[in-house]
Formats: sequence, C-alpha cells, structure tokens
Amino acid sequence: MFDFAPDPDLPKAERYRQLVGAAAALIADEPDGVANMANVTALMWEFIPDLNWAGFYRVIDGELVLGPFVGRPACIRIAMGAGVCGTAAAEGKTQLVGDVHAFPGHIACDSASQSELVVPVMRDGVVCAVIDLDSPNLSRFDAEDAAGVGALAEILESKI
Ligand code: SME
Repeated sequence: MFDFAPDPDLPKAERYRQLVGAAAALIADEPDGVANMANVTALMWEFIPDLNWAGFYRVIDGELVLGPFVGRPACIRIAMGAGVCGTAAAEGKTQLVGDVHAFPGHIACDSASQSELVVPVMRDGVVCAVIDLDSPNLSRFDAEDAAGVGALAEILESKI
C-alpha cells in the first residue's frame, strides 16, 4: 500500500516538493510509461487541491492523444497548436490560464473547468507529453503551481 497523504497545512512549495518526492519514489524502478503516468496522475489528484481534471496527453504521430487521467471523460485527440494543451505542446511552453473562456481556441472537455495549467514534458529536447490540470475555480493556478508541476515534469523525462 502507498500512503502519501499530504498535510493540508503545508506551504504550497513544500507540498510540491513532497509530491515530486513521492512521484520519484513511485517511478524509480518502473520502466512502464503508462503505469508511471497513472500513478503520477493519482498523486497529483491527492496533492493538488481544487481540481476537476488531472492527467496526461502524449505526443503520438504529431498529435496529442489522451493518456492516464482522473476526471470526466475527455477529448481523445488534440491537434498540435489547438487549445491550451496543443499550444503548450507546439510551443514547448507552460500555459497558465486564469480563465479558460478567455483563451482563444480553448477546448472544453468538462464545462466545470474555469482555469487550467498545462506543462510540457520533454524528452531529448522535444515535447513528448503534456501534464494537464483543470480547476473549477477561476485563477486557481499561479507561478508556484507552474514551477511545482514543472519540477514533476522534469523527473518524468525518461520515465513515460
Ligand atoms: N482544455 C484542454 C483540453 C483538454 S481537457 O481540459 C481535459 C485544451 O484546451 O487543450
């Protein structure tokens, strides 16, 4: 059994440090990318409050394809450059969106989503996946969230 229950009173940066530590421990000896994305998704869901969707899209044959996630069923394929996820993947840059309705081309998978954070996962200098987090709260994510999820993405480089 894995029990990584986060302390709700921890400062956000420390919470992300613990999340990254737990993820590193879980993926250390496991080469299977799907297993690792699934466990990291479960950890994000436990450690990051106020989410309605958390998971991965993988770059396959030049488009994004849905990976392991928690939340409502979502769009399966997203073109590079489309929506928040496709923009993050095409530009290789984190997208921090305070109000998804103000983001041109945002793809609505769950009408509850109000804000979104999408962080690219790189492999050999190329985007191989994105981590996507949705929240039912406006402006839920800030630079600390982006840095924390960015640190998580870095340890996944050779593991998904
Ligand atoms: N909103 C995303 C689509 C994926 S769902 O949020 C799970 C986008 O605009 O790319």
